[in-house]
Amino acid sequence: MTTRIPHAGVIGWPISQSRSPLIHRYWLRQHDLAGSYERIPVAPADIVPFLSTLRQQDLVGCNVTVPHKEAAFAAARRLDPVAKAVGAVNTLWFDGDTLCGGNTDAPGFLANLDQRAPGWSHASGRAVVLGAGGAARAVIWALIDRGFKVAIVNRTLARAEDLASRFGADSTAHAWADLGALLPAARLLVNTTSLGMAGKDDGEIDLTGLPIDALVTDIVYVPLITPLLAAARARGNRIVDGLGMLLHQAAPGFEHWFGVRPSVTAELRQLILADLGVVE
Ligand code: ATR
Repeated sequence: MTTRIPHAGVIGWPISQSRSPLIHRYWLRQHDLAGSYERIPVAPADIVPFLSTLRQQDLVGCNVTVPHKEAAFAAARRLDPVAKAVGAVNTLWFDGDTLCGGNTDAPGFLANLDQRAPGWSHASGRAVVLGAGGAARAVIWALIDRGFKVAIVNRTLARAEDLASRFGADSTAHAWADLGALLPAARLLVNTTSLGMAGKDDGEIDLTGLPIDALVTDIVYVPLITPLLAAARARGNRIVDGLGMLLHQAAPGFEHWFGVRPSVTAELRQLILADLGVVE
């Protein structure tokens, strides 16, 4: 009798930048499991047929990144509560013949802060979230789940208003110009925009007025210390970089596909940092 080796991967367009294979292959080695995990480029025009034939392609599931998270949401026959609330799926797996979709970005965001800034959510209060795109949706859901009131600040006010109406009374929408007035009441500041991402020459985020005991985090992890994090650290705020969110969001998918719940270890973090060329 032969045992089938489970194959999984990450789909996106483009996908060459994805570090997910490094993470899953590390866990496969660590747990001495047979399995594979590949980058799979899927063009937007091909996503619907791709998802409807996952099984025939001999895949046990996959991670889903930009721009396919909404298509994955539509394709899944069963959704976890976070995916339902956020309207996006980043992890697909099978339960029998049923294609299931989950959103692990939100729990991944929380697990990163829990690991790197223990106790950060004991006293909730006001969080300011910069951005109103797909990533912001998961972050806002996560913060409301931990009892925060969330001020959503976005360059395009209409997108912030859209999100605020989705999340109801626990969130409010604001224009970028309102940031200075919102910061003095913030216990947490989160950047979900592409501001500060390597290769982009954007303006700075002015932190004047942010309490010194507020926590600052960025979901961008290239560079690891974004200009926002560097500025926050320089004025004395506690900071958490975005790499841990990437590592933690990967764990539930690995468990679904390969049957073992893996841990986000210091060794795994060092492996990805080495790939990014960062020495801590
Ligand atoms: P993702 O799914 O990764 O969140 P997205 O949906 O394209 O990506 O959202 C990107 C976010 O970054 C948006 O909030 C965007 O603001 P707009 O809604 O006004 O486009 C924000 N963003 C991108 N470049 C920005 C810049 N130079 N200044 C301020 N916000 C920026």
